[in-house]
Formats: sequence, C-alpha cells, structure tokens
Amino acid sequence: MIVLGIESSCDETGLAVYDSERGLLAHVLHSQIALHGEYGGVVPELASRDHVRYLLPLAEQVLQKAGISKAELEGIAYTAGPGLMGALMVGASTGRAMAMALGIPAVAVHHMEGHLLAPMLEETAPEFPFVALLVSGGHTLLAHVKGIGQYELLGESLDDAAGEAFDKTAKMLGLGYPGGPILAKMAEQGEPGIYKFPRPMCDRPGLDFSFSGLKTFSLNTWQKEVEQGNENEQTQANICRAFEEAVVDTLMIKSRRAVQQVGAKTLVIAGGVGANLRLRDSLRVMMEKEGGELFYPRIEFCTDNGAMIAYVGCLRLMSGQTEALAINVRARWPIGELDAVVSRKS
Ligand code: KG4
Ligand code: ZN
Repeated sequence: MIVLGIESSCDETGLAVYDSERGLLAHVLHSQIALHGEYGGVVPELASRDHVRYLLPLAEQVLQKAGISKAELEGIAYTAGPGLMGALMVGASTGRAMAMALGIPAVAVHHMEGHLLAPMLEETAPEFPFVALLVSGGHTLLAHVKGIGQYELLGESLDDAAGEAFDKTAKMLGLGYPGGPILAKMAEQGEPGIYKFPRPMCDRPGLDFSFSGLKTFSLNTWQKEVEQGNENEQTQANICRAFEEAVVDTLMIKSRRAVQQVGAKTLVIAGGVGANLRLRDSLRVMMEKEGGELFYPRIEFCTDNGAMIAYVGCLRLMSGQTEALAINVRARWPIGELDAVVSRKS
C-alpha cells in the first residue's frame, strides 16, 4: 500500500510517501524557524498560514521525488493531534479533501505515535515489547510499548516538557529560538562541574518528571552571575552545560528505573529532544550496563517530519482503519486512548 503522510501540527510542514513493500520512498520538509525566530517562539496564526502556503507545493514535490503519480496513491494519512488547532486543521482538511478527490481512504494519525514508531523506519528496528522515552517540545513521557497502539503510560511530566524546558531556558539566557539545539551547542563549550543543579524527582519513587524547577534554577544562577559582573558567553555556556547535564541525568535515571521495572531489554528514544547527543550517549551507556540496547531514529526523524506520519498511517490503513468524511482534530489527545493494531503485510 502506498500512502502520502502529512504533518502540520506545529512549526514544520512535512510530507512523505511510504510504501508497505518498498519502505520510505521520499520525504520533504519545510521548517518555519526563520518565520518565528523574530518572535522568540511559535506564533500559531503565522504557523497555520505558512502551512497553507507550503502544503500543496510540497505534495507535488514529494510525489515527484518518490517517482509516483497521484493516481498511484492508495491512502492519505494526516496528523490529527495533539498540536496547534489551526495548524492541524490545515493538514487535516487538505489531506481529507485530497483523499476524497482521489477516491482513496484517509486516516487520522496521533503525532506522538508517529514519534514513538519513527525508529521503525530505520534498517535495524526495535522489536516489541520495549520501553519508549518520548521527549518533545510538548510532551515528556515513558511508555511500555507492547505493540502498535498498545501504549501503557509509565510516567510523564507534571509541568514543562523536556524540550519546553530547553526552549524556555535558552530564551531566558537570550540564546534565541529554537532553544534546544542552540543550548546544546552552547553546552559543548561549557565547563562541567561549575554549578550543582538538582535532578528533579529522582530522590523519590515513581516515573514522573518535573522540569520547570530547572528552568528557574538556571535563571537564578544567571542573575547571580550578572550581579557579580560575570555576564559573558562563557558563563552562559557553563550554565547551559549544567542545565543539559541535569536534564540528561534525570531522563537517564527515570528511563533506567522504567526498564528495570518492566524488565525490558530494549529502550527507544523518540521526539525532538532525542536529537540531543549527550542524551543519546548517556542512554546508550546505561542500556549497555543493563545488558540491553538503545534504538533511536536518525536525527531528521527525531524532530517533526512527514515520514513518521506516512508510516503510522500506512500501518493503520492496512489494518482497516479509516476516517469518515468529517474532519476532527484534537489539541489534546492522550496516547493511551489509541486502538491497538494488528498489522497485516500487503
Ligand atoms: O518533536 P519535536 O520536533 O516537536 C514537538 O512535537 O514538540 O520537538 C521539538 C523540541 C523543541 O523543544 C526543541 O528545542 C527540542 O525538541 N530539540 C532539542 C534538540 N533538538 C531539538 N533539545 C535538546 N537538544 C537538541 N539537540
Ligand atoms: Zn513532534
């Protein structure tokens, strides 16, 4: 089955063509970083308008890259949530309309399920069951993944998501948007061990996270340094280093606890923060010590992309799931509400 996937939940327009027999045929992406940069964060209305501008030209482009015509498409998958309502509506209404015009089925895909299963697009894919650490700009959660659509939530963030904490801390330090990658780059120049940052909620049992305190801790540390006349790039880099190490350590400690709790030998990391190299290294070392293995998608499939939506959409369409003509998108959509899928190869 050949499926066109459309991702438009936030600040990236991503399209891809996935074939159940040949794998990923092509993917294209337009990032809105330049558009939102001057505002220091995503402006929802501008995001929606930009998706409108880019979606159809990108659809033409991805089909051309895949070497197929519209008539060869057998299904359309679009992100239906969670995300920004306006942005979601653009992808969903365009995807649904395309499917109707072509007389093929459409399916609504959960954005986080896309992230969760993105490692399946790689040559060496993880096997079920596994523990997944999903860390993005909007979500931080640990799940026991028993199969497609079978996600048992083990723990989640009680306040800021890990990516959000990266973004807000970077903004406070005046580093710009998007904060995660900029802060991570800055941290490379930081000297370790200058500050003692907490590892939130690691001293008590459970698998939930809380990152908003680390953001405040960073701000207080920076303000103290400014008062003492140390307002310079090296101080910023040192704070970035301490902040990054605290987030990475916390994610590693909780992931280790989750792996031990369910007796898993496989850990999967997905979502935008999964692009963080210090986090990948820390989790790889931890899993080696646990006698298991770590899996993650290539960097470009950690952050938002159309490939993960086309892939999940293909699995769900092949299992017989389709949407009626109505267009439903959801800003919030708990991942535990998804139906299990029994995939048939075709
Ligand atoms: O998954 P994603 O593209 O979008 C959401 O679904 O939210 O994740 C974006 C998040 C942003 O918060 C961004 O700052 C963060 O992932 N991010 C990183 C890195 N690359 C992206 N955070 C830390 N280190 C990175 N290298
Ligand atoms: Zn995402």
